[in-house]
Amino acid sequence: MAAPWYAVVILAATVLGASITPTEKQTVEKSTCGRVWITVHSPEIKLTNGGQILDAVELNWDFNECSNTPRQIGLFNKRPATWGNALVIYPIQSTEGHIVTRIPLGVGALPAGWETSAGARGPNCLWPWAGAGDADIQAYNCLKIQPTWMEDNAAKINSLRIGELVIPGTHNAGAWRFDTEISTVTRDSFVLCQDRSIWAQLVHGIRYLDFRIAYYEFYPNKDERYWLNHNLIRVRPLVPLLKEIRAFLDVTKEVVFLDAHHFPVGFYEPDGSPIRSVHAGLLEIVHRELGPHLAHADRFATAPGTRGPTLQSLLDADKRLLFSYVDNSVVSENTWLWPILPHLWANTNNPSELFQYLDEAISMSPHPNARSPLHSAMAQTTPTVFDILLLRGSLRMNADAVNRNVTARLVTHWRQQANIISTDFFLANDVIDLSIALSTERGARL
Ligand SMILES: *[C@@H]1O[C@H](CO)[C@@H](O)[C@H](O)[C@H]1NC(C)=O
Repeated sequence: MAAPWYAVVILAATVLGASITPTEKQTVEKSTCGRVWITVHSPEIKLTNGGQILDAVELNWDFNECSNTPRQIGLFNKRPATWGNALVIYPIQSTEGHIVTRIPLGVGALPAGWETSAGARGPNCLWPWAGAGDADIQAYNCLKIQPTWMEDNAAKINSLRIGELVIPGTHNAGAWRFDTEISTVTRDSFVLCQDRSIWAQLVHGIRYLDFRIAYYEFYPNKDERYWLNHNLIRVRPLVPLLKEIRAFLDVTKEVVFLDAHHFPVGFYEPDGSPIRSVHAGLLEIVHRELGPHLAHADRFATAPGTRGPTLQSLLDADKRLLFSYVDNSVVSENTWLWPILPHLWANTNNPSELFQYLDEAISMSPHPNARSPLHSAMAQTTPTVFDILLLRGSLRMNADAVNRNVTARLVTHWRQQANIISTDFFLANDVIDLSIALSTERGARL
């Protein structure tokens, strides 16, 4: 006798794996129309009593494409089910917008076992959730980690070439907390661009890291001579950060793009010629720390003007780290290196000029004869020398002035052409989740 149809359905779902029909428990984001999402406020909020709130949770919404805009939005500490559970509720008065709550994110461990080593696959929520609706909650979403998003979406994105992906990145990835002989400062005005470790950046879903590497001859031990800087300022030693990347690659099937973007100190003679031994020393360290994962350009690169290897070909070979190098004379002697990655840099401290520049630069990318299959939009403003001397603003305030617009731009003006989007204080934008959604969208078009 035939089994009842529902038993067959349940059996099929079990055999195929629960991921095909996510249970309510696994749903981290839901909406019938429009979106809500959580971000983290990058500047501190100064209180009248002299105190301050760090890392305030922000609620964001975009209901532009919906016939109705929900009446209210709330912050919750678990999946929103009823308004009674909201920590705080705000009326919604525009089709898109944001609210900076007075509730700090706080310091919590990375969820689902990812604090220091591999945890559960798939997106996993930190504590804050946003929910929006009228009487009922119609849309919700959490602040999440995306440690395995490439693997989770493999069937949808693996046929894409690397230049066809949308890749979330961090600008000055290593500038996240001083680790020098004299400083372990975590917040400052003009040096630190991030506030999550390299490991945490990767666990959150960042897949492109922009490194500024410097060399200081005065350290006796060769490993200790290589640092990550922000321009002339030393922030952290390099080798431990490479070990964090290695640990991540060892426990996942993700592809990571590492970019030696600038060598501010110690890599060049005064006449501008590269100091061979210093470059060679760096390449040796990268090889030692990341060797088994390196996808050599001489094996995987495609012709100039094309978009590079597919994700699938990198996965088939299990070579998942691409190292691009800003000096083509060194690249030509070390053919495993990927060539200079074009950086779309507006070099302005003015947000309007930044977006004007990026709109045009992204629309004209990639260059028809580009050697690199990748290009990176530097989606942050750059303070001038006077900003720094006069302590005008801070990198956190600058990031706050552009990150919401970066989120909005990515799904509109940049949707078709964007490749790498690298930002400061990435928790203040929604680039990671949007990159995943847009990569999936592009994969579906193949
Ligand atoms: C950023 O977005 C806001 C809200 O849409 C808009 O009012 C503002 O002009 C945008 N800023 C820039 C520099 O584009």
